[in-house]
Amino acid sequence: MNKKHLVVGNWKMNPTSIEEARAVVAMSKKAAKNLKRTEVVICPPFAFLHLVKVDNKKIFAGVQNVFNQPAGSFTGEISPQMVRSLGGKYVIIGHSERRAMGETDELVSQKIIAALNAGLRPIVCIGEKTRNQSGEYLQFLRNQLSICLSLLKKKHFSEIIIAYEPVFAIGKSFAEAMQAREILETVLYIKKVLNDIFGKESASCACILYGGSVNWENAKAIIETGGVNGLLVGRESLNVETFPKLLTSVDAVSL
Ligand code: PGA
Repeated sequence: MNKKHLVVGNWKMNPTSIEEARAVVAMSKKAAKNLKRTEVVICPPFAFLHLVKVDNKKIFAGVQNVFNQPAGSFTGEISPQMVRSLGGKYVIIGHSERRAMGETDELVSQKIIAALNAGLRPIVCIGEKTRNQSGEYLQFLRNQLSICLSLLKKKHFSEIIIAYEPVFAIGKSFAEAMQAREILETVLYIKKVLNDIFGKESASCACILYGGSVNWENAKAIIETGGVNGLLVGRESLNVETFPKLLTSVDAVSL
């Protein structure tokens, strides 16, 4: 479990130039400087990873994907070992936008192990596409977690982070982020599933993030009452005006 709140910025395939990327890194570092209770991770595209020189313990570098092998003839792929050697510490695995391009739960399970073998901390994304009254999404989440974590040994459970991202709440207006109360209910269910797989002790110290249309206005409530240890933030993590406000508001929530 993280002792601090954890805010992870997922830049996706943005921005388009190195100058803009430099400006976002500078903004993030400045904003993270005076935080007391919050750890910040930024996950730029691979091309900009070298810009995130980690020079204090408040900001860390991550990436948005890795391959499931350490090296070899895999044109266009990037291994977890390469990311580690560039100073990366975290990796987002199984984001719904990658799953939409064909990534399966089985591949996610392999990538988690490959990342751990290289010393990276996996941020494993799960989340249902839709919800209906019959509650089928609960079974969907259970299956997703069971398969994604099927190769993970219990002793390594504390090294992973789960990011709960309901697909229908991603990239929407900020008013469409899931309400803190609903997040709490789902997080409790996720912990129940983790309890069934890894036992009570692991489940109780699980590190769980929420992602999906988080902004500086809804972040505090989600941290306060959503039962999560942090946030996975897309668009707002690139906003030089409002990302600092988001970090300050999260940091104000006692641990
Ligand atoms: P969003 O993206 O905050 O822009 O909705 C979140 C994510 O996809 O990780």
